[in-house]
Amino acid sequence: MTTEPHNAAAAEGGATGDDPGGPIPLRLLPDTARVSEQGHLHLGGCDLVDLAAEFGTPLFVYDEAHLRARCREAVGAFDGGAAYAAKAFLCAAMARLAISEGMDIDVASGGELQTVLRAFDGDVAQRVVLHGNNKSVAELAMAREAGVGRIVVDSAAELDRLDELHRADGAVPRVLLRVTPGVRAETHEYISTGQADSKFGFDIGQGVAIAAVERAAAMSSIELVGIHCHIGSQVFRVESLARALDVVAEFAAPLFGEGGPAAGCFDELSIGGGLGVAYVESEEAPTIAEWGATLRERWRSLSKRYGFEARLVAEPGRAIAAAAAVTLYTVGSIKEVPGVRTYVAVDGGYGDNPRPMLYGSDYTAFMPARAGEPRPDRVRLVGKHCESGDVIVRSAPVPDGIATGDLIATPVTGAYGYSMGAPYNRIGRPAVVFAAGGDAQLVIRRETVDDMLALDVL
Ligand SMILES: Cc1ncc(COP(=O)(O)O)c(C=O)c1O
Repeated sequence: MTTEPHNAAAAEGGATGDDPGGPIPLRLLPDTARVSEQGHLHLGGCDLVDLAAEFGTPLFVYDEAHLRARCREAVGAFDGGAAYAAKAFLCAAMARLAISEGMDIDVASGGELQTVLRAFDGDVAQRVVLHGNNKSVAELAMAREAGVGRIVVDSAAELDRLDELHRADGAVPRVLLRVTPGVRAETHEYISTGQADSKFGFDIGQGVAIAAVERAAAMSSIELVGIHCHIGSQVFRVESLARALDVVAEFAAPLFGEGGPAAGCFDELSIGGGLGVAYVESEEAPTIAEWGATLRERWRSLSKRYGFEARLVAEPGRAIAAAAAVTLYTVGSIKEVPGVRTYVAVDGGYGDNPRPMLYGSDYTAFMPARAGEPRPDRVRLVGKHCESGDVIVRSAPVPDGIATGDLIATPVTGAYGYSMGAPYNRIGRPAVVFAAGGDAQLVIRRETVDDMLALDVL
């Protein structure tokens, strides 16, 4: 086997005290991760080797206790309220879990909205926030009819659409306006949204935001209750998120008067999501509690400085779901390019995790049946999609002797993996299970070729 040089980030693994060639560190695994005497990794009391045999691979395994703990942490960190950003990972079971742990839910399309509504018999719409930079009339109508708690308006065209819908039925939804503060998040440009040159929101710097507020506040077809801002995702520096708060607070201070909406004032500021998570041995990230404490403290001092009272709310997605899951794959072909590297191909890839291809994101790997062992070898873990770029882990640390038929896993795959996946090459997306108390519950079944063929019209 040809051993790859460690990549730069991994080579700096000492920064976190983790040896990049040592066993997979528990801190990159879900909360309930335990290595059995046999050396197998268990999540939620379930042996991952058994789950692969029972449900097949590729398979997403979520640690239910981890998801619940992060939801509770977010609710505690933001006493004004926290909404789970469903785009990170959504299915009926996830919607029920987040709501049952006290979170509201932020959805970014009619499809996400319908998923949440369908997951409940009772009325949950009040706890839903609808986002989207180009909501259609149909999506806005659906949200109004369901009675969602908030619609976050992103553009003047949406104000027009809401006005038009109001003329037909007289309903008055509660609305936040999304502003762009001109604060650049230190993250990949594709997930940076707070700068003026962005497709999202009304820009503060160029006076567009204040004009939108004046127009929205004068409309009788909506009730404007606050301001929203989200500067980007996978942000490690909480200070960047706090800087956005400074800018938005200065902008919104004259609008947040005493008495709230009843007195014609706003009472809510949503700071969005964006907290980064550690994906590999060399990374460390603030906790949700630390993020909340910093923002709440800043919010308190801004409230004092400007003399307003308003709720600070947040919308974490990645920080709730990412580290809650691992993806299990089965090793297929192994190709050695002498003197260069070894390619290890598995039965999934781009279709269940497009992040490496979209953003050059880094991941690590471990073998669930040998979870306590050092990982001295380096291989390139690749998928089975017909693209050279279908790389899951550029330089995956593995125990020696990896072979066809072995089980291999990537941790921290719970956010923006399944949800961004696609059945490219007509390879269906994996099944998803929630593991808890020694049981694994199937929450999304495997996508089959028959599912895709059903869309073909002959
Ligand atoms: C408006 C909004 N809120 C919340 C989020 C969630 O961000 P994250 O998953 O980084 O916490 C996003 C992500 O893009 C977003 O656009």
